[in-house]
Amino acid sequence: MKTILVTGGAGYIGSHTCVELLEAGFAVVVVDNLDNGCEEALNRVERISHRDLMFEHADVRDKDSLDRVFRDFPIDAVVHFAGLKSVAESVSNPDLYYDVNLGGTIALCEVMESHGVTDIVFSSSATVYGISSSEPIPEYAETQPAQPYGKTKLAAEQHLQTLCEADERWNAVCLRYFNPVGAHPSGLIGEDPKGIPNNLAPYLTQVAAGFRDKLMVFGDDYPTHDGTGVRDYIHVVDLARGHVQALEFLADQRGFMPLNLGTGRPYSVLEVHAAFERAVGEKLPYVIAPRRDGDIAIYFADTAKAEMELGWTAHYDMDDMARDAWNWQSKNPEGYKS
Ligand code: NAD
Ligand code: UFG
Repeated sequence: MKTILVTGGAGYIGSHTCVELLEAGFAVVVVDNLDNGCEEALNRVERISHRDLMFEHADVRDKDSLDRVFRDFPIDAVVHFAGLKSVAESVSNPDLYYDVNLGGTIALCEVMESHGVTDIVFSSSATVYGISSSEPIPEYAETQPAQPYGKTKLAAEQHLQTLCEADERWNAVCLRYFNPVGAHPSGLIGEDPKGIPNNLAPYLTQVAAGFRDKLMVFGDDYPTHDGTGVRDYIHVVDLARGHVQALEFLADQRGFMPLNLGTGRPYSVLEVHAAFERAVGEKLPYVIAPRRDGDIAIYFADTAKAEMELGWTAHYDMDDMARDAWNWQSKNPEGYKS
């Protein structure tokens, strides 16, 4: 049985990936500083999978703690989720974002190498492409992220690429996620945002739950079919399964590879809103508001390379995403505190 270190495994995407890894027969060790994750999520991962995992409360920048983890467990490969993800916070505090997202990746790689572990799957983001990309976006599109968050993700990718080019033992798959939404169909784990959600799907479920009055649709004058912003939303379980397939792919010598994870099927804000109304079975109030600073009209993935390299495609559609997001929200109105 292979043992996988999952950094950031107590977070949204990490917890769903732990379930898929355990169900696929891997042993799992989670390192998380619980900055934005929750230990209860890990308890629930064990409930869903009927398997135990190991948890170390530690920061990925703390090399002594990481070193202890590698000495205590026979780690074969790493899935690296631990990081900060708020675009707005990265603008106000770029040093912190470079420290955690790039510094954390460098520290992790140093400890991995000292223990002879050189296979890594990294959580990157479609935001590395920036604003002037083609649609759909292939992996060879130019990378020019517009904000510090995206720049830290690209810098971490470049660090991994440099390692792979310098030493053939290193293998890295950088998964560039589009817009992850939804929750595990059990309703036991899901997205648990702190404060007012920035993102569309958790905002909609909080409107449905009565915590927010109405959705603000940020702009209806974009050059899209209904004027609202268009994105590539992907069910978090599909995303999680992509990580398992990336690990299996890495088992052969592969070098450095960036891969998009999206559905390739774009949806507008109003189409997402309509799917959530169907899932909830009620009207969800909304108003048209001004465009949000920094938003772009259309962003969706060319998924051909992930399909070719990993044999991976997304299976869930927008109605599944809305159903599972609402199932999680309605069963856990206060998130993991419920
Ligand atoms: P999340 O905040 O729910 O999970 C991140 C986890 O990392 C949390 O449990 C947090 O406590 C932990 N963490 C943060 N800093 C740490 C540190 N220094 N040491 C140890 N643990 C630390 O976020 P998520 O949505 O699950 O995202 C996971 C990864 O995917 C992140 O790297 C994020 O940048 C990337 N990503 C997310 C999205 C998205 O929309 N959710 C999109 C693209 C990429
Ligand atoms: N939107 C609304 N109202 C809201 C929230 C969002 O109308 O209350 C709209 C946005 O304008 C956009 C769409 O819904 O058109 C999706 O917005 P999200 O905030 O859910 O997602 P983004 O695509 O803007 O951002 C995501 C990640 C970022 C990442 C970015 C680019 O959250 O971390 O993709 O990859 F940087």
